[in-house]
Amino acid sequence: MGDPSVIRVFDTTLRDGEQSPGATMTTEEKLQVAEQLVRLNVDIIEAGFPAASPGDLAAVKAIAQRVRGHDVAVAGLARANTEDIDAAWEAVREADQPVIHVFLATSDIHLKYKLRITPEEALEQVKTMVTYARNLCPRVEFSAEDATRSDWDYLCRVFELAIKAGATTINVPDTVGYVMPHEYEMLFRYLRERVPGMDEVVLSAHCHDDLGLATANTLAAIRGGARQVEVTINGIGERAGNTAMEEVVMALRTRPDVFQADTRINAREFVAASQLVSRLTGIPVQPNKAIVGQNAFAHEAGIHQDGVLKNRLTYEIMTPQSVGWDDTRLVLGKHSGRHGLDARLRQLGYRLNAEQLKKAYARFIALADEKKYVTDDDLIYIVESSLETP
Ligand code: KIV
Ligand code: ZN
Repeated sequence: MGDPSVIRVFDTTLRDGEQSPGATMTTEEKLQVAEQLVRLNVDIIEAGFPAASPGDLAAVKAIAQRVRGHDVAVAGLARANTEDIDAAWEAVREADQPVIHVFLATSDIHLKYKLRITPEEALEQVKTMVTYARNLCPRVEFSAEDATRSDWDYLCRVFELAIKAGATTINVPDTVGYVMPHEYEMLFRYLRERVPGMDEVVLSAHCHDDLGLATANTLAAIRGGARQVEVTINGIGERAGNTAMEEVVMALRTRPDVFQADTRINAREFVAASQLVSRLTGIPVQPNKAIVGQNAFAHEAGIHQDGVLKNRLTYEIMTPQSVGWDDTRLVLGKHSGRHGLDARLRQLGYRLNAEQLKKAYARFIALADEKKYVTDDDLIYIVESSLETP
């Protein structure tokens, strides 16, 4: 449905992301994140799970009101029962583009041990609850929880019913981060081929990172025909987390030859979004995190620094500015070369001749052998004292 080259971004930082241990945010904090998501230009903000608590309902409502006037939908999550759906509707009804997101598990494991219902009873519940939600709200997303461990033909029956009952988006969650990329791509192709009406709805991917495959799986789903990706900032979320928005968006943008698809995301807001979410949730961003980690555009090795100074394309596949960093960071340590030292010294206002640089470099390497990082203050000391001594 719609232009297949435009991938919708459904951000769930405020719902699945907030389910990370310790990530709970106040309503005021959630509003700050929602405003940043608007600056990023996401298509849908999943603002919370309104039936979880009166506080959650109030926060979703406040977000729905706050982002009015922007081109963004607001979704509230609901289990497949009338109480949850009523709470979700109450929370999102004032949004310009409200969405009720209904989910029900479809794997044998969940049906048997968690829900304790039969597959036929689940089908009936999907039909009645999606119909109920659709009578309230023009946009209803249906998710088959644990879809990737469900029987594929049963999943087809579930989705066919959900579409007939009025679902406008069909989501295929890899709830426990179990699927492999090639399987997930095949599942999307299978569903598109077999489920009547699938072309009329938006097909969505939702991945968890238990095996470190969330981004790879989401990209595989796009190759299989997904037109919406469910993601969080920094990949925060249940257990090992969800797919990181910044990784998927930049993969699409860096490799148009593979995907021929893009999002509407304003990637220059990624670093600000990452740092805001990290500060508010108290979850640090690992230094080597793709795109938004402190080291994502840092080069320490002499060969790399030399290459980047000659032409950034040697070791950078996107510019730091394109995702919101000021610039490339040349980290000075024992692997750095003379070119890297010279470049940093020039930034600090020193232009040394060959002899002076040779001397300063020898002292720098001696210090770098003892310290993890050589700071700007260390460099200034080295240069000033080398210039003084004959
Ligand atoms: O991982 C999951 O299955 C979910 C659903 C509620 C969409 O988060
Ligand atoms: Zn999830």
